[in-house]
Amino acid sequence: MQFIDLKSQYALIKDQVNKGIDGVLEHGRYVFGPEIEELEAKLAEFVGVKHAIACSSGTDALVMPLMAWGIGPGDAVFTTPFSFVATAEVIALVGATPVFVDIDEKTYNIDPVKLEKEIERVKTEGELNPKAIIPVDLFGLPAELHKIEAIAERHGLKLLEDAAQGFGGSLDGKRACAFGDAAATSFFPAKPLGCYGDGGAVFTNDDDLKAKLLSIRVHGMSETERYDNVRIGLNARMDSIQAAILLAKLELFDGELVKRNKVASRYSANLGNSVVTPFVPGGYYSCWAQYSVLAKDSKNRDELRNKLQEQGIPTAIYYPIPLHLQTAYAYLGYKEGDMPVCEKVGTKIFSLPMHPYLTDEEIDKICEVIKS
Ligand SMILES: Cc1ncc(COP(=O)(O)O)c(C=O)c1O
Repeated sequence: MQFIDLKSQYALIKDQVNKGIDGVLEHGRYVFGPEIEELEAKLAEFVGVKHAIACSSGTDALVMPLMAWGIGPGDAVFTTPFSFVATAEVIALVGATPVFVDIDEKTYNIDPVKLEKEIERVKTEGELNPKAIIPVDLFGLPAELHKIEAIAERHGLKLLEDAAQGFGGSLDGKRACAFGDAAATSFFPAKPLGCYGDGGAVFTNDDDLKAKLLSIRVHGMSETERYDNVRIGLNARMDSIQAAILLAKLELFDGELVKRNKVASRYSANLGNSVVTPFVPGGYYSCWAQYSVLAKDSKNRDELRNKLQEQGIPTAIYYPIPLHLQTAYAYLGYKEGDMPVCEKVGTKIFSLPMHPYLTDEEIDKICEVIKS
């Protein structure tokens, strides 16, 4: 059994993918081929925003808006400690200070009440300038983005939605990637919409931000003078081949979202109370980047994972070490106990196989092993 089955998907879209790749090889515009603009238009339309800017990874999609907003040393950016490292890394990369805020115990996303308290604490302390919030749509479930938008507005902060795992989800009918001042997603192969390498995109309704992102994507180039670079940028372009692959995969994506939701519902119905199954609040639609459950404790988690492994069922732990306790972030001075909810969840959580092509028999077998 596969944790994520990309081969079954490839079998379905082989012709379109190969045709797309052949097209790039024929026209030869490997960088900024016509596939890039076509993909950007389709992504923007899917999400319901004015602009999508394709780029080289989810990490670059996160760092580019921070660069465009001039966030840097002395600035505080608030985020969750329960995420992939890139969420905090981009804050440190621009020289700003990550300020972690504990998560909600049911959704595992940043807790808006604690977020506002932390913003007020940092303001009162006066050592750092609060500048932005990066909530994460963890495992595909949108963060409490309506509340966080209101908090960002009250405190004059930029809101950058980290939807690396969230593309395809929605909240009250508004798609993930459409919230805040900008949003970032990842097209890493294992993501709900993945390419065959690295890729990402930034989404925004802000024309001025779009212009800056296009410049940053190519070394800070000027819009008018080709060899005059007007700001510090990156090489953050997406390859035409990856765009061609994503165009083929987008055709399947809506159907795959429905299938992912069916898989998740069957898991949740079958697992009952044997583990804590994921909580999806009313109005939220998850794209199920992961289906993660809580065991009773870390010993019970090891037992369950071993039993599943014996039956050839792979599992994974996202995330065993919260970001505030990782070695690279020790300089921030956090210690064990600072983010109690996140730390506790981290000892019990593990993820089951999740992809649109899991069969009912496979799901039932996984549930049986866990329940027995
Ligand atoms: C929450 C989150 N943010 C950012 C990233 C970074 O994306 P990429 O691997 O495309 O750079 C990931 C990817 O795993 C992620 O899960």
